[in-house]
Amino acid sequence: MVNTTKKTIDDKTVVKEYFNATGFERWRNIYGEGKVNKVQLDIRQGHQQTIDTVVSWLKDDGNLSQLSICDAGCGVGSLTLPLAQEGATVYASDISAKMVGEAAERIKQVMKNPRNIRLGVQDLESIRGSYDTVICLDVLIHYPTEDAAKMINHLSSLTKSRLILSFAPKTFFLTLLKRIGEFFPGPSKTTRAYQHKEEDIVKILQDNGFQIKRTGMTSTSFYYSRILEAVR
Ligand SMILES: C[S@@+](CC[C@H](N)C(=O)[O-])C[C@H]1O[C@@H](n2cnc3c(N)ncnc32)[C@H](O)[C@@H]1O
Repeated sequence: MVNTTKKTIDDKTVVKEYFNATGFERWRNIYGEGKVNKVQLDIRQGHQQTIDTVVSWLKDDGNLSQLSICDAGCGVGSLTLPLAQEGATVYASDISAKMVGEAAERIKQVMKNPRNIRLGVQDLESIRGSYDTVICLDVLIHYPTEDAAKMINHLSSLTKSRLILSFAPKTFFLTLLKRIGEFFPGPSKTTRAYQHKEEDIVKILQDNGFQIKRTGMTSTSFYYSRILEAVR
């Protein structure tokens, strides 16, 4: 029998170490504005489209400044920043101290003394509290579906009414695996990319009392992300 608890810890340990070392450098560049290679540029643009989709959904609702938002696995703050600039109160955290440090730097560069952002270094399964909206973008790719389910269950317990997730859909499995192989060459190839069947994710969300309200899909040459907004 497979010990999934141990495996989750192992996956988390690998992911945490990766995003505090080679992964940090790599993703800081991709999620930045400096020079990157063609593949990384494609991923940067794809990721930005995912961020833009989510920000536009929340802006369209017209009540961002009244919302408390939990950005779980916030990375360098790519989503936290625009949401906070629109007036939302954002609780952003990430398992990687380096990513959170970079987020803090970026926030400082564009917002003076932002009182509506709180940053923390935290595994998303240890986040506590209650938020109007919980968002977790491009994090579940690091975990197999059985572990992603536990994470979604926990994130569901944190939100009053809405959970927004993005994940790499299973349909692009072979393409993505091949490309991820190109994307993590040599010694930095330390994380696995897991894809999830949309029906599995929807079922987990439904089991937590949600229904799907809006959906989005970002597809570029090297980046695929399915976005689901689940509401109660
Ligand atoms: C591909 S990046 C996406 C970052 C951010 N959500 C975005 O879209 O800009 C994945 C992030 O998830 C974080 N992460 C991975 N596993 C995590 C966990 N169990 N708890 C919190 N953060 C996690 C990583 O450290 C990394 O910063």
